[in-house]
Amino acid sequence: MAILIGDVAPDFEAETTEGRIRFHDYIDGKWAVLFSHPKNFTPVCTTELGYTAKLKPEFDKRGVKVLGLSVDKLENHAGWSADIQETQGTALNFPLIADPTQEVAKKYDMIHPNADNTLTVRSLFVIGPDKKVKLKIEYPASTGRNFDEILRVIDSLQLTAKHQVATPVNWKQGEDVIIVPAVTNEQAKEKFPGGWKEVKPYLRVVPQPQG
Ligand code: BEZ
Repeated sequence: MAILIGDVAPDFEAETTEGRIRFHDYIDGKWAVLFSHPKNFTPVCTTELGYTAKLKPEFDKRGVKVLGLSVDKLENHAGWSADIQETQGTALNFPLIADPTQEVAKKYDMIHPNADNTLTVRSLFVIGPDKKVKLKIEYPASTGRNFDEILRVIDSLQLTAKHQVATPVNWKQGEDVIIVPAVTNEQAKEKFPGGWKEVKPYLRVVPQPQG
C-alpha cells in the first residue's frame, strides 16, 4: 500500500556510509528528509548530492537529518563520493543508505516498475518528529529536484507545527502567513495579540511569527 501524508514512515535497518542504522532510532525525535536517487555515478544524481551536501548547514539550522538512498552497494558509495567532491566542490556529509536488495526502496514505493524495473525514481519524504510523513514528492530520473524548494517546504511545515499558521501560494521566508482554519478567532486573539487582517472570515493574514 502506498505511503501517504500522515502515515508513520516505515522503520528499517540498513547499511549507510556512516554505519548501520535503525531509521526510527536514527531520527530520534528530529525532522528528517529521506530521498532516493536512481543510481550512483550518474550525472543528475551527482549534482543533486553535491548541492544537498552544500545545504547541510541549512538543514542543521532547521534541526533536520538528511539521508540519501540508492540501490547500489555500500562499496560503490566511497568512489562516487570522491567524484562528488571533485566535480561539485563538496563531499558527502550525510549518510547514504546502500539498499542493493531494494528492501527500503520497496517499503517506500521508490521503485515505479513502469518507469524502471530496478532503479528508484527521485522520491523524497519529509518526516516530522512524530515520525509521520509530512511531504512526499516523486520526480522522474531525468529531472533533478529543487532542494531550495525542499527547505522552503520545511520552513512552512515547521511554522505550521509551531504556530498553527499555513503559508500561501509562492510564500517565502519572512512573508505574511495565514491562520489555519482550525484556530477560532477567540484562540487567534491569544496567539496573535498584534491582530490579523481578515480578508474573508476564512482568510486571516498575519505577519510570519518569529522563533
Ligand atoms: C542521472 O542521475 O543523471 C540519471 C539517472 C538515471 C536516468 C537518467 C538520469
